[in-house]
Order: sequence, then C-alpha cells, then structure tokens
Amino acid sequence: MSGIYEYNAENIKKAAATINNGGLVAFPTETVYGLGANVYDAKAVSNIFAAKQRPHFDPLISHIAEVDFLREYAATDERVFALAKRFWPGPLTFVLRRIEENPSIDLACSGLRTLTVRMPNHPVALDLIRASGVPIVAPSANKYQSISPTTAQHVADGLGDKVDMILDGGACKVGVESTIIDLTGKQIIMLRAGGTAKEDIEEFLGEKVLISEGNPDLPTAPGQLLRHYAPKNLLRINVDIPETDEYFIGFGKVNGNLNLSPSGDLSEAASNLFAYLRLADKNAVSGKIAIAPIPTTGLGLAINDRIKRASYKK
Ligand code: TXA
Ligand code: MG
Repeated sequence: MSGIYEYNAENIKKAAATINNGGLVAFPTETVYGLGANVYDAKAVSNIFAAKQRPHFDPLISHIAEVDFLREYAATDERVFALAKRFWPGPLTFVLRRIEENPSIDLACSGLRTLTVRMPNHPVALDLIRASGVPIVAPSANKYQSISPTTAQHVADGLGDKVDMILDGGACKVGVESTIIDLTGKQIIMLRAGGTAKEDIEEFLGEKVLISEGNPDLPTAPGQLLRHYAPKNLLRINVDIPETDEYFIGFGKVNGNLNLSPSGDLSEAASNLFAYLRLADKNAVSGKIAIAPIPTTGLGLAINDRIKRASYKK
C-alpha cells in the first residue's frame, strides 16, 4: 500500500531511490499526475502497463529535466531545439525519431521507431527526474481510459495499491494533458490537443500545424481511441439546456450544478475539467451528466477533445 508524501528534500530522495530500484512513483506535473518509472528498467516499465491495465501497444512519454538528454536519445535538429527553448518546461510533447537501441526503451515506445518526450513544468517532477538521474517514463496516473488525476488524492483513489509512493504537489495548474506534436516529418502534425495552444505553436513557427484525427481502430497515438477519459455515467456534450434529471456542468454564462469557469476563461476551465467530471460522476443521482458548449479556440480544443471522447457511447 502506497502513501501520499509531501514535497520535501527527504521525500524526493526516497522517491528517486524508489525509481532507481525499479519501483513506481506517482508525481505531479503541471498537466496531470504521472505514474513514473525508470525508462531503462524494462521490468518497471512493464509494471506501469500492468498497474494501469493499459495495452502494450500504447507508448509512453519520457520526461526529462535537461534538453541535452535529447541528443543521446533521439534525432534532433534546429527546429526541435527551438521549440524546446520556447515551450519547455511546459505542456508540449515531441514525437521524434529514435536513435537509441535499448530494449527497455523499446518497451516504453511500444516498439515504434519514435520516441516521445517532454520536459514538465513542475518543481516536484523536475527535482525527481534530476535526483533519479534518468528519464522517467510516465503515463497519466489513472486506470486505462478513465479520468486523468489532477490531485494526489485522485491517484490514491484510482491506483493507490499499485504504486510505491505518491508525491503530492497540490492540484495541477493546467489540468489537461500535454499537446503532442509529431516532429518526424517536414510538416508538424498535432496528435493530441492539450495544454499548449495550437495557435501558439503556429505563431512561433510561422507555419500551420496539421491535425491528425488518427485511426481509432489502430491507435498509434494519444487517446485517439473513441472512448477515453471516460466517467462512469452517461455524458452529453454541447448542451445549452439540460434535461431536468441531468447533472449539469456549465461554462461562462451558462450555469449548472458546477461551472467550469463563470468568467469564460478556458485555462480555468481546463484546470477544473477532470476534477469536475469526477464530482459529477459522484453526484449525478440519475446517472446522467450534461456539459455546456465550450469554444474550440486555444485550450478549448483540448477540452472539447476530452469531453468528446468521454461522451462516446460503446
Ligand atoms: O501531460 C501529459 O502528457 C501527461 C503527463 C503525466 O506528462 N502524460 C500523459 O501520458 O498524458 P499518457 O500516456 O496518458 O498519454 C500519452 C499519449 C498516449 O495516448 C500515447 O498513445 C501517445 O501519447 N504516444 C506516446 N508515444 C507516442 C508515439 N511515439 N507516437 C504516437 N503517439 C504516442
Ligand atoms: Mg492518459
């Protein structure tokens, strides 16, 4: 049975030792909590898939604390370093070509020829990676296809008996997962909308970022499965006026039992999204949840992606 550990030097040391000994440590990032293991430890990486009940064809993100690590790891060029300089640490993940032939990395990458990597913007995550001395692979610290955790308690509720330690860093500020971009080709392709707005990447590069819809039957990628991030109850989206028995999550001027952001601020809405879906799941007496329309600009793209998958009926 794991416990929740507060953020201090002693617990970072203990967590790093756990990572180095092949254990699993859940830790906060600015997006959501991650379930971490040493990327080079195949057994530990395999334990991540088991703990989450996640299929092995779904690759993991490596988390690094120094940009220089990339050189050992993946094919890089000026564009990669320019993007890293502008957006790291932060909620932007790169898919790059691999150069490392290490069998444990093979497992983390699900055998793909690509490596997925980001530098999280959270002191606990960065301290842990530095103290461990290795890149830490970490999916979101929740059971496969369920709602991602944005507090240490969410992790304990979902995976408490499966992790060795949970480091507490408070509630995640961004609240939705990182944006994932494929940098292996000439044109940049966004594989998952997330905490970095597509518009910001386009503005920085002065070029369009393409959107991949993916193939839901063959997901090489990001929650490209149709049903993902799902609450237990039924969820209807883009609802202006809910049914009387629906538990209603509002946005902006559209009020409900909860409101993601009364002022209509998309960053605030993103940071509340997963916690409110959990609350709705707990409180929807009728078993039905509805959610107000959310604009699709900026972080709204990621929010709409998550609620669309969360609302998908099998
Ligand atoms: O914000 C985040 O990205 C969080 C925090 C913990 O860093 N992590 C996260 O990991 O969301 P995860 O495993 O829940 O989602 C990563 C997604 C997966 O759906 C996976 O399919 C996709 O990234 N992915 C990983 N490597 C890939 C690759 N080489 N090519 C395409 N998709 C990849
Ligand atoms: Mg996930």
